[in-house]
Amino acid sequence: MTKRLNWITDELDALSGQGLLRELQTRESPPVGGMVQLDGVALVNFGSNDYLGLAADERLIDAVKHFSGQCGWGAGGSSLVNGRGTLHRRLEKEIAQFKKTEAALLFPTGFAANVGAVTSLVGRGDAVFSDELNHASLIDGCRLSGASIHVYRHRDTSHLAELLQAASGAGRRLIVTDSVFSMNGDVAPLDALAELAEQYEAMLLVDEAHACGVLGHCGRGACEQLAVESRVDLQVGTLSKAFGSLGGYITGSNELIQWICNRARTYMFSTAQPEAISAASLAALEIVQADAPRRLRVVESASRLRQILNGLGFNTAGSSTQIIPLIVGDNDRAVAMSRELRNRGFYVPAIRPPAVPNHLARLRISLSSQHTEDQLQRFRDCLTAMSAVKDFSPR
Ligand SMILES: Cc1ncc(COP(=O)(O)O)c(C=O)c1O
Repeated sequence: MTKRLNWITDELDALSGQGLLRELQTRESPPVGGMVQLDGVALVNFGSNDYLGLAADERLIDAVKHFSGQCGWGAGGSSLVNGRGTLHRRLEKEIAQFKKTEAALLFPTGFAANVGAVTSLVGRGDAVFSDELNHASLIDGCRLSGASIHVYRHRDTSHLAELLQAASGAGRRLIVTDSVFSMNGDVAPLDALAELAEQYEAMLLVDEAHACGVLGHCGRGACEQLAVESRVDLQVGTLSKAFGSLGGYITGSNELIQWICNRARTYMFSTAQPEAISAASLAALEIVQADAPRRLRVVESASRLRQILNGLGFNTAGSSTQIIPLIVGDNDRAVAMSRELRNRGFYVPAIRPPAVPNHLARLRISLSSQHTEDQLQRFRDCLTAMSAVKDFSPR
């Protein structure tokens, strides 16, 4: 390392002193049977977004094998310059059909989709309104757009209304929100947001990353569950969580998708994903549509666990989904709890700032349809036992 980089040593020491230094672990097993092997230890896995247990599903793996034989691997360039593959096209059509929208556009990741969406819709002179707990990709999209940014308190539609009113002189207006918040597991007040969007003529973007595949009667997400699909201008989704694959997408009208395809720099200047990955996503999409019991299982396991945690006095921050935070507060305490759980055979990551606000470090428990009743029972027993230990008890 050159002397010019010596400052990094000081910064890393500072992070360590604040309990904020992250160390990468190595995952040595595919996510199968609700388990994961991390750094040589087999653990029941409560740290993954593979909510429906599709990440190692044979049907996805077979699709990749089959179609990489047919289509090759790398896409060779951005879809706009190089053409999108037939499987990309098919996936976009099937996503649009599933989501009941006119069109869909596939991005390499959900992060790229969010950044691309926001930066295509607003710019200098415009205003964007963002929930304070939105995902980093929406936040970065807002920052990159050049629009004036108005952050409203979490799920607080009165605050949003005030901000919309105050920014009535702005050009285009855009409200952006996660539907299920990734570190809280609570759901945005989509009905009220749609109402405000209508009242103030603001566009409404909903990021369904953690909801699509899990929530809603047909698994389309929170917009379906809360019956607001037709009132939302565009939805963003990811294939990397419940769908067990990789990639992001935007759904909306034909014109909107055409505009984004012409404007989103994360689409125009980035290589398309390998087509074989789209083949895996197509297989996952079929499973999601055919296998409702999978999503019911995960929703029910989450509900039982949440009930027990709340009964023990833990703060689960308004979670009502398969993501259950256990708010701890102090960074070191969150890490100690995560370590203790690991010693007892469970992987539950400690989430610290900047992923969550200061003083709100937490354990993030995510449920999967793959968890067996035995694993869930042992986990509930373990948390019950830990809640009686002074260092870990809810305060
Ligand atoms: C709410 C939300 N939106 C978008 C993303 C980005 O999706 P991807 O992992 O496909 O890039 C994430 C990922 O964690 C997320 O939590």
